[in-house]
Formats: sequence, structure tokens, C-alpha cells
Amino acid sequence: MAEVKKIAVLPGDGIGPEVVAEAEKVLKRTEELFGYRFETERALFGGIAIDEKGTPMPEETLQLCKNADAVLLGAVGGPKWDNNPHALRPETGLLGMRKALGLFANIRPAYIFDCLKEASTLKPEVLEGTDLIVVRELTGGIYFGEKYRRDTENGQEAVDTCVYNVMEVERIARQAFVIAQKRSKKLASVDKANVLESSRLWRETVNRIAPEYPDVELEHILVDNCAMQLLRRPSSFDVIVTENMFGDILSDEAAMLTGSIGMLSSASLGEGSFGLFEPVHGSAPDIAGQGIANPIATILSVALMFRLAFGYEDAATSIETAVKAVLDAGHRTGDIAKDKSRAISTSAMGDLIVNAMSK
Ligand code: IPM
Ligand code: MN
Repeated sequence: MAEVKKIAVLPGDGIGPEVVAEAEKVLKRTEELFGYRFETERALFGGIAIDEKGTPMPEETLQLCKNADAVLLGAVGGPKWDNNPHALRPETGLLGMRKALGLFANIRPAYIFDCLKEASTLKPEVLEGTDLIVVRELTGGIYFGEKYRRDTENGQEAVDTCVYNVMEVERIARQAFVIAQKRSKKLASVDKANVLESSRLWRETVNRIAPEYPDVELEHILVDNCAMQLLRRPSSFDVIVTENMFGDILSDEAAMLTGSIGMLSSASLGEGSFGLFEPVHGSAPDIAGQGIANPIATILSVALMFRLAFGYEDAATSIETAVKAVLDAGHRTGDIAKDKSRAISTSAMGDLIVNAMSK
């Protein structure tokens, strides 16, 4: 019998519970097909945790995650909590979770499904062959630097500080080099070294360790230029490594190359195999509760979990193959459907994928 893998499931807010329910079907199907065993436990996180427990990241949720082999997260946030004070925002819970679990490496793959090329706003010939990964530093930089306000003669002043030390840059760069070694061996390190001191340290550090990965071709690219090149020549990128906020922005941009952010999965990893897996998209309050959200990003996040946290390559491939088959057969949720009147529901998409999985 396979060992039991413990998965903490945090459905969260908005469409989170709807897409997570489809991912749970995939977990069950994987047990039947491959004999792997999963023990899932749900916990409150995000806005719903604020409503029910008075905090976005209750202590019992954090403990459940710490004791698990992996975390599956839906999405957090919504207009209901947007005007809350900082400590009572769902996003604060997400940032706290990343920090508390030491998840410094955020892996966001973006690749084009051939049959969805027409769903992108870019020309198909520009997109041809696009298959890249954004490796985003997740527990440092301006997100976590000191923040405060002070009074000045010109009114209040707000300060956010961007801080990086060598250790933080080195560990994320190493992750990116290793990922590049397993792919097309091209790494683009993105910074703003012409302006920011933290970027100059970033670049120096990446250059210092680069000789340890001689098979990887390294280029440095300024973030503004990278934003432009992603639209001009997306297929020339393989692995992109960058600091927290640049990665936040560039990964949304990369997501839209693929046509719908509803397709993209992500993994947040620390030093070991433990990780948190979640769709790149948010809680989409505008369509929540209607059963029309695209569950593919969350289902593909399960595939990433199998591959990166558990080493279940066979089950990961089974999911990815099933998703491709279902899309190739023409099934679409509203976000990727050309003819919206023929769009299928969240659960219909989940069922099709589950039924298409095979050993
Ligand atoms: C993301 C999100 C978060 C981030 C928000 C919700 C805090 O945009 O995961 O990309 O900025 O990291
Ligand atoms: Mn983001």
C-alpha cells in the first residue's frame, strides 16, 4: 500500500470552493487509478476565516498545513473585505501563510494549449511555441519590508521598503537554475539594476553563482524591457527568475498570453518537498456561486502537487493528458469558450477531466 499523503485543503472565498471541489474529484480518481492514498482535511482560510474566526489565518489552519505533506488552496479575497484594516484582509492571511511556511519559491508555468490559441489577445504566430516558467521570489522584497506612515509638512507620507539579502537571492536563483537545467537551459534574471540597489545585489548574486550552472545560458533583463519582450517574443523565454513584486506583475502578464488566467496553476515551495499549490487566478467574486468558473487551473495545480511534492509523475501526466484531451474535444468553460452559449459548467468540466484520466 502506498503511504498516505496528507493534504490540507483550503477552499477560501469566491469561486475557491467551486474549483477546489473539482480538484477533490481528481484526487479521488487518482486513488482509484493508481492506488495512491490521500487524506484530505479542510480548514478555514481568507475572508471566510475572518467571518467565522476573526482572522484570515487561524492558528488551527496554520497547524493543519504544517502537519500536512502539501496544501491545496482555492482562492481568497473579495469586495466584502476590501475595506478592512490590514490585519483583517484575506491577502494578509495569504502573505502570512507563505512566510510562516517558508514558501520562498513561487513557480508559475505559462504554456499555450494549441487548441486555445484563438483565446489569447495575441496573434497565434507570436504565441507559437510559448512555454515558460516564472520563478517568483515570494517571501521578501517590498511585500515584506518595513511599512509605515509619517506626517510631513506636505501631508502624510507612506513608506514601503524593498529589502533583499544575499541568502534570499541565492536560494531562489539556485531553484531557477535547477529548473532551467531540466528544461531548455535558458534563464532570464529580471531586475531593475539601473535604478534599484536591491536589484544590483540581485544581479551580483546571480552572476556569482552562475558558473556553478555552466550548462544554463543566463541573461539579465530589466523589468520594463521584460514586460515588453513578453508580448513581442514570448516563445524566446524559458525560465524567468525575479523578485517578489516584479514576479507578481510579470506572471499575470505571462498568464494572459495563454488566453485565460483560468488555466494557470502554481506551486509555492520551500527547501524540501512540501508545498502549497493554487491556481494563479483570484476568487473572481463576479462569477462566484454560479457554477461557471474554470476548474482547470486548480486541477493542474494538483498535477503540480503530484509531481513536485509527491514525485507521482505518472498521476501528474495522467491529469495533464486528460485536460488536453478534454480541450481538444472542444469542451470549454465560459472564460475560454468562443461561443459562450455552449459553455459548460465547472462541475461538467471537472467530470469530463476525471473521466478522461487513465493509467
Ligand atoms: C498573487 C496575488 C497575491 C500577491 C495577493 C492576493 C496578495 O496577487 O498570488 O499573485 O500579490 O502575491
Ligand atoms: Mn498576483
